[in-house]
Amino acid sequence: MTAIDLSGKIALVTGVGDNEGFAWAIAKGLRAAGARIVLACQPNRMNIVDGNLTRDMDRDSRLLPDGSEFRPEKVVPCDSAFDTMADVPEEVRTNRRYAAYSEYSIQGTVDAVGKEFGGIDVLVHAVAFSREITKPLIETSRKGYHEAMGVSAYSLVSMVRAAAPHMAGRPGGGSVVGLTYVAGERVVPHYGGGMGTCKAALQMDAKQLAWFVGDRNIRVNLISAGPFASRAARAINPDFDKLIAHAAEHSPLRRPITAEEVADATVYLCSPLAGAVTGQVLYVDCGYNIMGT
Ligand SMILES: NC(=O)c1ccc[n+]([C@@H]2O[C@H](COP(=O)([O-])OP(=O)(O)OC[C@H]3O[C@@H](n4cnc5c(N)ncnc54)[C@H](O)[C@@H]3O)[C@@H](O)[C@H]2O)c1
Repeated sequence: MTAIDLSGKIALVTGVGDNEGFAWAIAKGLRAAGARIVLACQPNRMNIVDGNLTRDMDRDSRLLPDGSEFRPEKVVPCDSAFDTMADVPEEVRTNRRYAAYSEYSIQGTVDAVGKEFGGIDVLVHAVAFSREITKPLIETSRKGYHEAMGVSAYSLVSMVRAAAPHMAGRPGGGSVVGLTYVAGERVVPHYGGGMGTCKAALQMDAKQLAWFVGDRNIRVNLISAGPFASRAARAINPDFDKLIAHAAEHSPLRRPITAEEVADATVYLCSPLAGAVTGQVLYVDCGYNIMGT
């Protein structure tokens, strides 16, 4: 048996907003493999995640396969709309959910984590947002489209730029994993607000970034996940369960995916087993992407 051991690795997992999304499952999967985890949350999600990590009623969601409870090393605020604190507008700085924090930019957060933990081995990008997600692309405003692109796609470029100096020279190399969706390659009409374009951009950016950091033995890959009822996904469409059922029915495996399967694939991509894998999209979708219906 080939076991995956990520002991001693430092993993920065961004996009943790609650205990239901992919980022939570990925953080637990990496922890179960031995990595030490730092969670990065949008500042307005910090209290929710703190509750998920401490409340009795959320205990089951913290359980790891060995029966122990998931505990990150640290939870830090990070807003993917801002590369440095100089980018933060006054209305955000003074917002009651942001005012308590002096640093939540990508560059500042990543630098602080890299310095405190002596480097970063794994970076997970699980961030996506479109204010106009329920509007079809053709009705999406220029402002909404650009905001979605900045938060959901450009943020990967910004994160990799910030993290590369901390990931360079790590034993076994560094691994960046992001999350995409089949709508970045094919038309999924309900995936609105420019999000399909964001995923297309993310996929090309991941390839380009793989080249730009490959000389430092940092790998960049994406997982294209099948539909899953996270908070963000439920905001796309109140009938999201029907979309999941449709994908399940039309997938070779005839079932929906689980968040744990996305976590397993992430652990693989961060392991030495994937040492020569970079610039790739790994489909964790029960095979849905190969179908013509
Ligand atoms: N759920 C699905 O069906 C599905 C399928 C394929 C890919 N994905 C992708 O998986 C990733 C995680 O999404 P999820 O479905 O687990 O939902 P989620 O709601 O759990 O995760 C999205 C996260 O993005 C964060 N976010 C939004 N704006 C932000 C900002 N400005 N700064 C920092 N964080 C911000 C939210 O706080 C949230 O935690 C996303 O990239 C999503 O597009 C989801």
